[in-house]
Amino acid sequence: THQWRGIIEEYRDRLPVSDSTPVVTLREGGTPLVPAQVLSERTGCEVHLKVEGANPTGSFKDRGMTMAITRAKEEGAKAVICASTGNTSASAAAYAVRAGMVSAVLVPRGKIALGKMGQALVHGAKILQVDGNFDDCLTLARELSDNYPVALVNSVNPVRIEGQKTAAFEIVDMLGDAPDIHVLPVGNAGNITAYWKGYTEYAGDGIAAKSPRMWGFQASGSAPIVRGEVVKDPSTIATAIRIGNPASWQYALAARDESGGFIDEVTDREILRAYRLLAAQEGVFVEPASAASVAGLLKAAEAGKVDPGQTIVCTVTGNGLKDPDWAVAGAPQPVTVPVDAATAAERLGLA
Ligand code: F0G
Repeated sequence: THQWRGIIEEYRDRLPVSDSTPVVTLREGGTPLVPAQVLSERTGCEVHLKVEGANPTGSFKDRGMTMAITRAKEEGAKAVICASTGNTSASAAAYAVRAGMVSAVLVPRGKIALGKMGQALVHGAKILQVDGNFDDCLTLARELSDNYPVALVNSVNPVRIEGQKTAAFEIVDMLGDAPDIHVLPVGNAGNITAYWKGYTEYAGDGIAAKSPRMWGFQASGSAPIVRGEVVKDPSTIATAIRIGNPASWQYALAARDESGGFIDEVTDREILRAYRLLAAQEGVFVEPASAASVAGLLKAAEAGKVDPGQTIVCTVTGNGLKDPDWAVAGAPQPVTVPVDAATAAERLGLA
């Protein structure tokens, strides 16, 4: 009876729900804030990881989806639709099941990780692979929801942002104040918008004494906000953030400027280096896009932009199991042995 109840029940007074709202939840949120020892040593700061891969469908999207599906149910929707690079669709598919709704998902053909496709399939979503990128999928999803009886659950739906802001609440509740710096990967820019909203709400009500500087990182091949222009053909191995025209672009700029932060880019090589460091040295397995936050922190630290002694939170947005190809690629093949202890001990270097 002491289980975490999900973000709507835990933060009910700060979310747009009423007593009669039919809450659709998988008990999302309440995710671990894990001290990062190696990152703290490297930066001279107190670095924490907000491990959002611990959510029910393996990404932070569940925080927004519990709100979006709850609201859709309240409004009597029978079907929901989203465009996705994979995690939103996995989450929408799962929460639609809980709500007894049909889900339709539009994904860029050939550009979503296998685990995410598996989730949408097993939850019974109607999946269309669109011959285009995420931005094309979102255009199509908007058009369909405008003209047909289907509710849009992308983060352009403002209740998604409301749900996602609860991650900032959890961090302040845990640390006793906001961190000095909060670092995030940026794709469609909904999450940086949501965290900033959460932090400013808590600061405005005096629950936090300060607000953090917001640092966002895009993948170099998909960095429209850094470039200041739409990227027509975005590319990166971090498929979750392969987005060339973020829907919440203006809100991301506001979060950056109001917080005194910045939005920069990291290369795929830097992303993979951080991905491996997180797994091999912090014990936290994330998907490549999630490692963009940590890659960005390391890049900033190496450039001398991180003063020691600060409290820093990096959100790692999705579980490594979503996209295990990158864990296996380039790793040595495990050695095969017979059922023989002496041989096994020798191969393990124990003998
Ligand atoms: N990290 C992961 C693992 C994601 O799946 C996403 C976005 C982001 C970071 C970026 O967050 O878009 O709010 O700036 N994934 C969306 C999707 C686009 O369809 O699953 P953002």
